[in-house]
Amino acid sequence: MYKINDNYLKLPGSYLFSNIAKKVAAYKEANPNRDVISLGIGDVTLPLAPAVIEALHSAVDEMAQAETFHGYAPDLGYEFLRRAIIDNDYKKRGVDISLDEVFISDGAKSDSGNIVDIFAQNNTIAVTDPVYPVYVDSNAMSGKTGEYLVDKGCWSNVIYMPCVAENDFVPEIPEKTPDIIYICCPNNPTGTTLNREQLQKWVDYANQNKAVIIYDAAYEAYISEKDVPHSIFECDGAKTCAIEMRSFSKNAGFTGTRLGFTVISKELKSGDVSLNSLWARRHGTKFNGAPYIIQKAGEAVYSDAGKKQTEEQIAYYMKNAGMIRESLTDMGYTVFGGVNAPYIWLQTPEGMKSWDFFDMLLERANVVGTPGSGFGPSGEGYFRLTAFGSAENTKKALERIQSL
Ligand code: MLT
Repeated sequence: MYKINDNYLKLPGSYLFSNIAKKVAAYKEANPNRDVISLGIGDVTLPLAPAVIEALHSAVDEMAQAETFHGYAPDLGYEFLRRAIIDNDYKKRGVDISLDEVFISDGAKSDSGNIVDIFAQNNTIAVTDPVYPVYVDSNAMSGKTGEYLVDKGCWSNVIYMPCVAENDFVPEIPEKTPDIIYICCPNNPTGTTLNREQLQKWVDYANQNKAVIIYDAAYEAYISEKDVPHSIFECDGAKTCAIEMRSFSKNAGFTGTRLGFTVISKELKSGDVSLNSLWARRHGTKFNGAPYIIQKAGEAVYSDAGKKQTEEQIAYYMKNAGMIRESLTDMGYTVFGGVNAPYIWLQTPEGMKSWDFFDMLLERANVVGTPGSGFGPSGEGYFRLTAFGSAENTKKALERIQSL
């Protein structure tokens, strides 16, 4: 008789954003005339940049001719894209990454979920709390998190590093030593960052304790402050302790197009075993590459026109972020983030529970956000709004919140 992976049965409820989507769908069904504005899931709203569209069209035409048709992509991704990444994302910042250290994928969410494959069961993970739920859920699915403690809203074998207003959302070195440390910077959901010195401290700690840092830099394009590193590899010693994940979703609007990459230096080793070769083995066996046309679209993001156009998109979203920050502050809310990230993290009024605030906003303002407690126990009492809406809807949503 077959057996299921019963780690799945330990997972509480459904994935955060599926849960929210269901609640919103039920509300819309019951209230079909209400115009609901979503500032919930961090999904982009601007169309793909013209340079990207042009590259897509031309790649589609290539697929129509036998001479230029492309079948399976190379295991690690096309060299034209890996080279563009190395030159633009790393070399320009003084970081030396080689071609076989970049792995193209269908997005950072897949990579951050799949990376658990190359680590043993008995690793202890440490996560910032609140945290992007994929890191914890994917470890839970593979049996690395112990038992779910319903009353505490957390897992018995996960080290939670609270990031709250009181510590400026900077995780402190935990008492118990973790094996795997997840850091997302700029942070989803709090929209806050670590500066160079703070990140260097984590790199040094990981090297001293033979831990690995899984560094999610999906929002790096939103960094506006000079002292915030765009890559963990800007820190000394990061190549021997860090894996970096990047996405085209937020910097170039590929949420529906799917493209990302992971960088693992060949210097990252567990004893004699290179994690780069483990990931290459996994990638080769379980993944057949992001589509050629999408990788061509990704290459176009790095063209002069692509860079200019995607920078304009980011500026558009960050203008929304500024508007949200300013309006909410004027209304008396305490807000964080929104300076180096497209997320605004606010304290709920009068200590309201995050889900109660979610319900109130949905029902009375017809605005959807994300309850902080959905990201972990320390997110209770907080709420996330995204700057990825249209400027018009963002303004409308703020007017509605103001009139509550
Ligand atoms: C979010 O809203 O946190 C993100 O959009 C989810 C994701 O990137 O998978």
